[in-house]
Amino acid sequence: MNVIIITGASSGMGAEFALQLDNTFNSIDEIWLIARRKEAMLEVAQYLEHTTRVLDMDVTNEAHMKRLENLLAAEKPVIRMLVNCAGYGIMGDFSTSDIHDELGMIDVNCRALTQMTYLCLPYMKKNSRIIQLASSAAFLPQPNFAVYAATKSYVYSFSRALNQELRSKKIYVTAVCPGPVDTPFFDIAEKNGSTLAVKKLTMARADLVVEKAIADSYHKREKSVYGPWIKSFEAAAKAVPHSIILEIMRFLK
Ligand SMILES: NC(=O)c1ccc[n+]([C@@H]2O[C@H](COP(=O)([O-])OP(=O)(O)OC[C@H]3O[C@@H](n4cnc5c(N)ncnc54)[C@H](OP(=O)(O)O)[C@@H]3O)[C@@H](O)[C@H]2O)c1
Repeated sequence: MNVIIITGASSGMGAEFALQLDNTFNSIDEIWLIARRKEAMLEVAQYLEHTTRVLDMDVTNEAHMKRLENLLAAEKPVIRMLVNCAGYGIMGDFSTSDIHDELGMIDVNCRALTQMTYLCLPYMKKNSRIIQLASSAAFLPQPNFAVYAATKSYVYSFSRALNQELRSKKIYVTAVCPGPVDTPFFDIAEKNGSTLAVKKLTMARADLVVEKAIADSYHKREKSVYGPWIKSFEAAAKAVPHSIILEIMRFLK
C-alpha cells in the first residue's frame, strides 16, 4: 500500500498539501492526515479523491506517537511522501512570554518533526520524498520571534543534512522556507499582541507556496523558497552581516 502522510493537515498549508497532492499522485492508495482537530481534518478529507485516513493525534504525545508506530508496523505501508507541517510560532518578548508556549514550539517544531521523520523512514523506499516545513525565519535570528526562528533553523539544518545522508537511498528531503503565508498561523503567532512588520508587504498565498514546494520536491531540491521578497531576504542574510540586518529589523519593529 502506497501512502502519503501529512502532519498539520487540519489547517493552512498542511490542508493545502493534502488537496494538491490528492490531484498530483495517481499511484497512491491512501492519504493519512495527522493533527489534533479531527473535525477539521474530516472536512479536508471531504474534498479528497483518494481514500483518506484521519489520525487525530498530538505529535508531542508519546502515547499517540506509539499508536502511529504500531499502526505503521501493522500495515507496513510504503510511504511515498511525508510532509511535516505541524508547527506553530508565537511572537513576543522572550523574557515575559509563557515558558510553556516557548518550550512547546521546540517540542512540536523540532522534537516531533524529528521523531515523525524517524518513524516514517523505515517505510520509505527509492524516490520517496520528505517535505519539512521550515521558514525564512531559519535564515537569520529573529528578535521577538527568537525561539520560533531557532526551531526553524534547526529544521533547515536537519533537513539539509538528512538530505545528504539519504542520497545513497535515493530518498530526497526538501526544506520549505516561506516568509509570511496567509493561513491561521497568525491567529496563534500574534496572540500576545506582537505583529510582524513585513507581513503585509510580503504575505504569500498558501496554494502558491505549496505548489512550489511540491515542484521543488519533485525536482529533488533541498530547499524551496517562494517569491522574490523572500529570495531577496535569503540573499541579504547571506551577503550582509547579521549585526546590520538585526539593527534594521529592530528599527522596523
Ligand atoms: N503561515 C506562515 O506564515 C508560515 C511561514 C513559514 C513557515 N510556516 C510553518 O508552516 C507550518 C504550517 O503552518 P500553517 O501556516 O499552515 O499554520 P496553521 O494553519 O496554524 O497550521 C498548523 C498545523 O499544525 C498542527 N499542529 C500544531 N500543533 C500540533 C500538535 N501538537 N500535534 C499535531 N498537530 C499540531 C495544527 O493542527 P491542530 O491544531 O488540529 O493540531 C495545524 O494543522 C508550520 O510548521 C509553520 O511554522 C508558516
